[in-house]
Amino acid sequence: MKAIIAAGGRATRLRPITSTINKHLIPLANKPLLCYAIEKLADVGIKEIGINVNPGETEIQKACGDGSRWGVKLTYIEQVGGPTGIGRIPLGAEKFLGDEPFIYYLGDNIILGGLQRFVERFEKDKLDCLLALSKVHDPQRFGVPVIENGRIIRVDEKPKQPQSDFAVTGIYIYNQRYFEAARAIQPSARGEYEISDVHTWLIAKGYAVGYEEITGWWKDTGKPEDLIEGNQLILTEMQGRGVENEGEVEAGASLTGWVKIGKGSRIGSRAVVRGPVIIGEQAVIENAYVGPYTSIGNGVEIYNSEVERSIVCNQVDINCNRRIVDSILGVNANITAASATLPAGHRLVVGDNSVVEL
Ligand code: DAU
Repeated sequence: MKAIIAAGGRATRLRPITSTINKHLIPLANKPLLCYAIEKLADVGIKEIGINVNPGETEIQKACGDGSRWGVKLTYIEQVGGPTGIGRIPLGAEKFLGDEPFIYYLGDNIILGGLQRFVERFEKDKLDCLLALSKVHDPQRFGVPVIENGRIIRVDEKPKQPQSDFAVTGIYIYNQRYFEAARAIQPSARGEYEISDVHTWLIAKGYAVGYEEITGWWKDTGKPEDLIEGNQLILTEMQGRGVENEGEVEAGASLTGWVKIGKGSRIGSRAVVRGPVIIGEQAVIENAYVGPYTSIGNGVEIYNSEVERSIVCNQVDINCNRRIVDSILGVNANITAASATLPAGHRLVVGDNSVVEL
């Protein structure tokens, strides 16, 4: 089996972060989102993965390379036909995918647990398509299956009145029937080839469409709060692992819970860090509090401030005498105290669609 990961698109709901970085490279627990998808596929024994990228973009290639670090071969495939919906993305990778069944993985999805169960079910029941479902409280954001007598009879894309409390997650397994379906469907009212229409088409033709429920957590990281929650979920999971501390912790610093500190980082004597927290390389935490579910990138400096349940990207400087919570701070962001320079007041350089709560 091969796999194709969707890692293109514009991710407008995540602007301004995605004005300078592809969404799939946003770090969760200091690792790009996309790496989690590659890891899950490598863990299930997949050796060849195609990555759908926006034409002309090269940042994903630079970040992931040839895949050898995961023991897989990565092939980058530029998306054809523009942003016409995710229903047709694997069609652009038809040559790469060949005749074998394949996994289609939306690169902004993260899950706890492996894919083995899904692959086994697909093979055991000789399915044409397997959908991974997850119970959600807001199904109208997703593809929603209509289930009757234990069978999916239709999938509605982002329905106003969902017929179940399941979302069809972005993890799909298909055989060659997918290509028939993708060629047959028409654009939806919003002008996109919907993946849900592929599924409804397969069902209408009588092909074998099965489903498995994801029992652990699953997250589609479409909005900023999803990323913050995703970061929290991953850090919670990481707590179960051992931790090697490669940084310097000065006498007097207080560290509790799972705290991972990277090379060259320094936790000053008057710092308090309560895990789960991950701190990258060459960071400084001085006279500051870093609370649970926070990821601190490389080269970050935090003085005289408090940060909790946040994603702090590389090279961010924070020195503001305030508590920052539930936030995403992009690369090189600089958060200072309004009183540090005169006239007193909040001086802001804020990108389009930013959210600032003063
Ligand atoms: O996450 C599950 C949901 O994903 C499903 O429940 C929906 O049925 C499905 O339509 C999809 O909905 P989203 O609104 O979340 O799709 P989104 O536009 O966020 O794109 C999904 C992934 O595909 C994301 O990783 C970006 C990538 N993508 C998206 C577009 C529009 C591309 O690679 N190219 C694109 O042109």
